[in-house]
Amino acid sequence: MNKPLKQHLIDPEICIRCYTCEMTCPVEAITHDDSNVVIDAAKCDFCLDCIPVCPTGSIDEWRFVAKPYSLDDQFGWAELPAQGEIVAAGGDDAEGGDDLQAAMEALLAEAHKGAGGKAKAPATAAKPSVNLYNLGKPAVAKVQGNFRLTSDESGSDVRHIILDFGSQHFPVLEGQSIGIIPPGTDANGKPHLPRLYSVSSPRDGERRNYNNLSLTVKREDKGVCSNYVCDLKLGDEVQVTGPFGATFLMPDDPSARLLMICTGTGSAPFRGFTMRRQRAAAGTSGDMVMFFGARTPDSLPYFGPLNKVPERLLKKHLVFSRIPGVDKEYVQDRMMVEQEAIADMLADPRTHIYICGLKGMEQGVEHAFKNIAESTGMPWEATRDVMRDEGRYHVETY
Ligand code: A2P
Repeated sequence: MNKPLKQHLIDPEICIRCYTCEMTCPVEAITHDDSNVVIDAAKCDFCLDCIPVCPTGSIDEWRFVAKPYSLDDQFGWAELPAQGEIVAAGGDDAEGGDDLQAAMEALLAEAHKGAGGKAKAPATAAKPSVNLYNLGKPAVAKVQGNFRLTSDESGSDVRHIILDFGSQHFPVLEGQSIGIIPPGTDANGKPHLPRLYSVSSPRDGERRNYNNLSLTVKREDKGVCSNYVCDLKLGDEVQVTGPFGATFLMPDDPSARLLMICTGTGSAPFRGFTMRRQRAAAGTSGDMVMFFGARTPDSLPYFGPLNKVPERLLKKHLVFSRIPGVDKEYVQDRMMVEQEAIADMLADPRTHIYICGLKGMEQGVEHAFKNIAESTGMPWEATRDVMRDEGRYHVETY
């Protein structure tokens, strides 16, 4: 029997084409075409540097193969082939099957240890469309609005951008992202890669039943795409890829309880979730609780409109880190204050947890969950892993 090879792959259904892995890989084993981001088996040396930087976990895919999949094979995939098919396709000796299976299981256990498991969509989430438009064939959207959400004094310029897709089919679900291709070329004369932004409107449009969507974009110092987007004018045309993302989705089950934790523009998907529930099931839905951290009220995107959302629909904990004369508060601090309510949600199998925003907050939030769960006798890691496996635990940080 040929010695099977371990091949590192990317799940094209879940990948949001942010290209962070490609930029991180020290041996340039990761590359892309107009459609997919892929890994060259001949170059990958399993350093795993790309694993923690991936916001979705789509990079954490492994297969045992007799003959590695080529770049062209991977460019052509709309979804990952199953492990069994790969072994068969590679013409491997069937008698080696048990050994391969055991080796594969050991490998998966090892690979998933760091990332904490594989993300799954909620069981009742609608099926998302992904990668309908790519670098070679982007959609062209027209700017319908560009509103500043933060005050001049706040020192932070966050924009609400509305894009209209006219007659192009561009279906999105709450929690998905789209890519924007900034015009021009990079320092090497190559066209810029798209930058990813979470959609902040619900599936039936920023304006109900219109073919438009909104984004929440923060102007970054020297950010090529964020400055381009924040400076867009009404009527400008924008090249768009996507939609992307197949797991950070909301359950359609109206009785599901949503616990949403975010900082800054990480609130974008939760605006979509909230509007979806507001429009779809007013008064009949399971509770939604939000912990939202910003420096000050005037730098918290949607502070005004958010305050108008009734508490019976959305329980809001808005926390601030830089109000003069007031102690700094982070989302994880407020979670500890609200530990009884959180423990109640953790114990309920209808609860879904979503964490979105700064990578730095992930550790603090995990720590808070651990404290809260264990104070009520629940083992946190096991609880979290079950939730993740059931499509009820979702992290998207950057
Ligand atoms: P701060 O920057 O005052 O330490 P930003 O405005 O940069 O998007 O950040 C949004 C909020 O997230 C700010 O209040 C910021 O606080 C806060 N923040 C920064 N680091 C962490 C962290 N490790 N955990 C939780 N919140 C954080």
